[in-house]
Amino acid sequence: MKYINKKLVIEKTSIENIAKKYGTPTYSYSYDQLRTNINNFKKSFKSFSPLICFSVKSNSNVNLIEEIKKFGLGADVVSIGELMTAIKAGINPKKIVFSGVGKTSNEIIYAIEKKILLINAESKSEIKEINRIAKLKKKKIKIGIRLNPNTDAKTLSQISTGKKENKFGVNEKTFIDLVKYCKNSRNILLSCLSVHIGSQILNHKPYERMLKVIDKIINKTNYKFEFIDLGGGMGITYNNKNRKLDYKKYNFAVNRFLKKHKSKIIFEPGRSIIGNTGTLISKIIYIKETKNKNFIILDAAMNDLMRPALYGATHKILPSKKIGKKTKKIYEFVGPICESTDKFITLKKFQKLKEKDIIAICDVGAYGMSLSSNYNLRLKPLELLIKKSKIRVIKKRQKYKDLI
Ligand code: LLP
Repeated sequence: MKYINKKLVIEKTSIENIAKKYGTPTYSYSYDQLRTNINNFKKSFKSFSPLICFSVKSNSNVNLIEEIKKFGLGADVVSIGELMTAIKAGINPKKIVFSGVGKTSNEIIYAIEKKILLINAESKSEIKEINRIAKLKKKKIKIGIRLNPNTDAKTLSQISTGKKENKFGVNEKTFIDLVKYCKNSRNILLSCLSVHIGSQILNHKPYERMLKVIDKIINKTNYKFEFIDLGGGMGITYNNKNRKLDYKKYNFAVNRFLKKHKSKIIFEPGRSIIGNTGTLISKIIYIKETKNKNFIILDAAMNDLMRPALYGATHKILPSKKIGKKTKKIYEFVGPICESTDKFITLKKFQKLKEKDIIAICDVGAYGMSLSSNYNLRLKPLELLIKKSKIRVIKKRQKYKDLI
């Protein structure tokens, strides 16, 4: 996104024109940004060409996943719904990994029937269940075991997953026991060690520590894993204060690891692929002035974008037109939902705004639409993909008849 002739544009299309034609609130994705992100990701790790499995939970729009597939990516899924979506988008099942602590028997059966690459199991009970189903189907199924490396990802506690108090994966001792257990399970072929320590990680050091733990455990088990799945978690810059993840250092650490262990690396990135491609376009309904603050009441709300209410996350807000006039007043950008947490950001010295103005909430491609809900019985927004000057509706706005 940039300003051209003082107008905010996504790949040449002004957000005002988008708002006029398609209404608000609307999610708009930039194809150009998506392509750049995928190419950069591939380039960062090209020395060992990993299998890149896009994390569908970050954005489950089937049309976007179809575009992502065209770059050769696979998918990381955590439910039968996500698995169906990935397959519908045309992703080769041999590039799909299935994560999650609570896969049901039906989900395991479906994954086996679709012949996906790996089911990453997270407990002994789950391994037993996979073995039972595989035996009934007279098949030998490739699985991974998710290790909890007890590594602090130095990110928000709500999105940290690799510490011993988290529900994810198994600890070192259990992991070693389960490797032995798998060797004796006739319908299972243990092929992968998987980890995922958290999301929005901006410091490479937790990844280095995680790799050290994996190295130690592989040495202890003395087992040859065909795949090492390092999960996702690569963070993006939501504001100027954010540091940037040093991909060179992460790449260096993986290469050092691969000198000792010859395995195929899998990554499961979500946010780093799709996060900064998405913008939520919204209209100001009312401006409510008080002595200390102006409440800018938007037509987008916490049901459309949950991250600020759920994690205290900040997303930049930009006006559709740059007029240069700044006000000294404090602006609190809120939605119409009946909750005090329905607020996006508080800003000082922002450009003067008026009712009916259009604004953009930035970097909402990941965990934006996928976390949206119908709270307050609000309709889910429309989604658009902008490719050069072409605009394509990739999901229609929900209708009341679907809801009521
Ligand atoms: N693999 C596994 C097993 C995961 O649990 C996740 C994310 C990913 C990969 C992708 O992580 P990413 O590259 O996107 O960081 N709703 C939160 C983020 C939750 C992440 C959950 N797991 C947010 O809006 O910040």
